[in-house]
Amino acid sequence: MKIFIDTANVDEIREAASWGILSGVTTNPTLAARENRDYGIVLKEIIEIVDGPISAEVISLDKDGMIAEAKKLAAIHKNIVIKVPITEAGLATTKYLSGQGIKVNMTLVFSVNQAMLAAGAGAAFASPFLGRLDDINEDGMVLLSNMVKVYNNYDIDTQIIAASIRHPQHVTSAALIGVDIATIPFKVLQKMVKHPLTDKGIAQFLADWKKLQSAIGNSAGNTV
Ligand code: E4P
Repeated sequence: MKIFIDTANVDEIREAASWGILSGVTTNPTLAARENRDYGIVLKEIIEIVDGPISAEVISLDKDGMIAEAKKLAAIHKNIVIKVPITEAGLATTKYLSGQGIKVNMTLVFSVNQAMLAAGAGAAFASPFLGRLDDINEDGMVLLSNMVKVYNNYDIDTQIIAASIRHPQHVTSAALIGVDIATIPFKVLQKMVKHPLTDKGIAQFLADWKKLQSAIGNSAGNTV
């Protein structure tokens, strides 16, 4: 499973990229608003950090508006993927953009039917929102697993991005289901690194090492 980061914060992206685990980035208007900076400038900075698909979302609701925005965003760099909501206008926009060679990430997917329509329209990516389904007492993992099954049934090459991830267990479950990509907030990535036994193990190694140094009278800590 490829890992994308779900943020418009350039410092978070730079840090996660330094770990060598990032294959792409997803942003949305809410994430962009948190940064309080010009969206185009933020996207250009992200492109310098991560060499992979960078999703940038349109805010128009009509086809002409979406296409006009998409063209401006796509002109920034070849790695920009246009995030379009699954609506009637969104589908028409996706059909048009994919015909022009511009990749679309169909977003706000909450059902298998929406996922099939996204693929039919030519979306390169489809983003089911797991956490938001869990929030209304539905199971996001059921949608994810059904989407994987249906796309496999018909050899659909639209890639699934597990989105709206809220905790590490979402990531593990998505990987077990076999999804192509998970887009993960930085805080969740940090939690994925941690394990109490790792911390305990490091503390024990350091304590034992100090004991050894004092036993052999090596106060300088030299190893050679
Ligand atoms: C990513 O593509 C989505 O926009 C994002 O994961 C939504 O997450 P949220 O439901 O936590 O806002």
